[in-house]
Amino acid sequence: MGNVVCIGAQWGDEGKGRIVDKLSEQADIVVRFHGGNNAGHTVIVDGIRTVLHLVPSGVLHKDKVCIIGSGCVVDPEVLIQEMEMLAARGLIDMASPARLVLSDQAHVILPFHKRVDKARETARGAGKIGTTGRGIGPAYEDKAARRGLRVHDLIHPARVSEAVRTGVMYANSVLEALGAEVYTGGELEQMITRLQEQGQKLKPCVDDCGARIADAIAEGKRVLFEGAQGTLLDLDHGTYPYVTSSNCLAAHASVGSGVGPHQLGRVLGVLKAYSTRVGEGPFPTELNDDRGEALRQKGGEFGATTGRPRRTGWLDLVALAYAVRINGITDLAITKLDILAGYGDLEVCVGYELDGVMLRNFPHDIQQLQAVKPVYQTFPGFSDVPERLDSLDQLPAGAQAYLRFIAERLGVRLSIVGVGPGRGQELVLNDVLA
Ligand code: GDP
Ligand code: IMO
Ligand code: MG
Repeated sequence: MGNVVCIGAQWGDEGKGRIVDKLSEQADIVVRFHGGNNAGHTVIVDGIRTVLHLVPSGVLHKDKVCIIGSGCVVDPEVLIQEMEMLAARGLIDMASPARLVLSDQAHVILPFHKRVDKARETARGAGKIGTTGRGIGPAYEDKAARRGLRVHDLIHPARVSEAVRTGVMYANSVLEALGAEVYTGGELEQMITRLQEQGQKLKPCVDDCGARIADAIAEGKRVLFEGAQGTLLDLDHGTYPYVTSSNCLAAHASVGSGVGPHQLGRVLGVLKAYSTRVGEGPFPTELNDDRGEALRQKGGEFGATTGRPRRTGWLDLVALAYAVRINGITDLAITKLDILAGYGDLEVCVGYELDGVMLRNFPHDIQQLQAVKPVYQTFPGFSDVPERLDSLDQLPAGAQAYLRFIAERLGVRLSIVGVGPGRGQELVLNDVLA
């Protein structure tokens, strides 16, 4: 089939960006299908670090078409900034960005969505979700409430005004109830004018992304669907309510880009060799001690979007088995193996015990999840992971055993191993776009 969906198998930040950059060598089109600039996908090429929040991570390859799909929510200010950064580096042409396509059906994140997001978090106090504050939740709420502004309306100046006025009316009622600053008439007019200008800047990129992908597939081109966030942040299947407001699962690549499910191809689950989470919510294998801090420092575990320290912990095979099942993962990409080198013996969670009983499945009830006791299996540590690899044999025996155990336990083939953040610091064992 030649297509692949690449998704996060944990709580986000698994290294999807660098894996998508690698796989883009073989794909013709790369499509983001959900989320917005809550995502931060890092790609490092020749020592230059690029963090992409909206534009697909295939953009550093100059001949690839990059699509922001219908399932995304787009902050025009952030997208324009990102496009200007890419244009300044000669990667896209701002005036006729032929290889950057923005779905006409994507929803627009409006300034008041960000204010509502932050006001809600403040009002929740200790019970906060720990959102990125980028207005993601409120934008998806307005979409579901059928009062959102879509990109095809954003590019018509006359249509912006009405949607924004309605949106502000609802936003103001929430802001007022939360004791936050409401929008005044002057601010509203300025907002409308700015959005109208932004719409005109983005207009050259706007197109029917489902049709573009269908045409490409008919011509035998290969499509790489780039997930954001991660399985356990999925609105339906994640650790609700400590989740994002979109569906992160592989199946959503179909809805979020307007192609049939049979066209998606293989499903590549990206996971770190250990676990991290940013924001609040249950994390059964979390290390709240010196070892957790050491992992954060060694792994550079600070958010690519907000700079917040990421929480760290052991690899959790109960959560990962759930991710394999609900995404239909066919291939694994395990990143950051190098970070575990020299870290001493390693624990891997192989079961959850609750009130003396071993659970068969990952619990949906977060109170249960918060109460489970992880059951660990210990693996001898390893040192000296080479900076580049041609075969698994070049890894220390301990690292090979660790990887083999993960793949066997999950019943999924291991297709990519990351041993460093840079382009080329990965071993590809199977062709996932075959
Ligand atoms: P994403 O959101 O899934 O794309 O991941 P992020 O970019 O937010 O976070 C992953 C971090 O790990 C980035 O800083 C990457 O440069 C880095 N990274 C990815 N793979 C590897 C790897 O195999 N080894 C090391 N040392 N760093 C990696
Ligand atoms: P990438 O694509 C890690 C988390 C936030 C918060 C929760 C809800 O880089 O892997 P939101 O702003 O979406 O309403 O926040 O989701 N979150 C992420 N965590 N990586 C991400 O994206 C994330 N996007 C959102 O920290 O806990
Ligand atoms: Mg990230």
